[in-house]
Amino acid sequence: MHRPLAISDILARGPLGRLGNAVVLLGEVDSTNSYLRRSADDLPDGTIVAAEYQTAGRGRLGRVWRSPRGSSILLSVLLLEPADSPIHKLATTLAALAACEAIREAAGIDAAVRWPNDVAVRGRKVAGVLAESTSVSPARESVNGEGAARGLIIGVGINCLQQSGHFPAELAPTATSLEIESAAAVDRARVAGALVGRLDRRIAGLAAGGAAGLLDEWRAACDDVGTRVELCCDGAVFRGTIVDIADNADLIVQLEDGGRRHFAAATSSRHW
Ligand code: BTN
Repeated sequence: MHRPLAISDILARGPLGRLGNAVVLLGEVDSTNSYLRRSADDLPDGTIVAAEYQTAGRGRLGRVWRSPRGSSILLSVLLLEPADSPIHKLATTLAALAACEAIREAAGIDAAVRWPNDVAVRGRKVAGVLAESTSVSPARESVNGEGAARGLIIGVGINCLQQSGHFPAELAPTATSLEIESAAAVDRARVAGALVGRLDRRIAGLAAGGAAGLLDEWRAACDDVGTRVELCCDGAVFRGTIVDIADNADLIVQLEDGGRRHFAAATSSRHW
């Protein structure tokens, strides 16, 4: 479907602050996140990897992420951050917001973030984020030069050109693509450039302004406060109404059977 992404698409916004020190474009790979995990010791901070097709794309909580060849944006970035940097805990929130902004900007679609790692259009999933940390050689310095680095890999998948028949039966009721949601043809290359630009800006914004501003903007881009939610956590199912996102990016839920509970993304799964 359509031409492969080029470096000029990925870096269409001109020089970036942090991302793009290296750009790797692959026709096929197991997973762009796995590629960066394997190669983190040999690649610079800010490396971007994008692929046309993944044979073993991964989602959160061990799920599989599948996309027809050439249909999606499958892109990961590598950051070398101090181990105690707040970005390790906020990477998913940051990247979901960046993906939402990129979709709005480049495709003109009214997307919303959906806790913890998704972007939705009309209540259906159009994009997801998988952020993972990885150890790197102790000889590798973090980006600010303050001691050893911990690798952070942020992977984003955006469904761009799929038609409804492209989704497997179990996802069909809850998944969508930009093409399905848009009245006009979707320019995947433009969305990719916008994604990289927005990620770069959000990473710089977090370093400069801290978590509070990021979380406020995430809240503004989220339309499901007040909606009912069902979550699995510690082997139990919880039902309630979303109240807010906490300052550490936990979801705060008013439970049906009384009381409020915080849910951490790392240990909770949300039903669509
Ligand atoms: C989710 O919704 O659970 C997260 C999906 C993340 C998919 C992207 S595609 C690029 C990167 N490589 C992967 O294997 N996964 C992420």
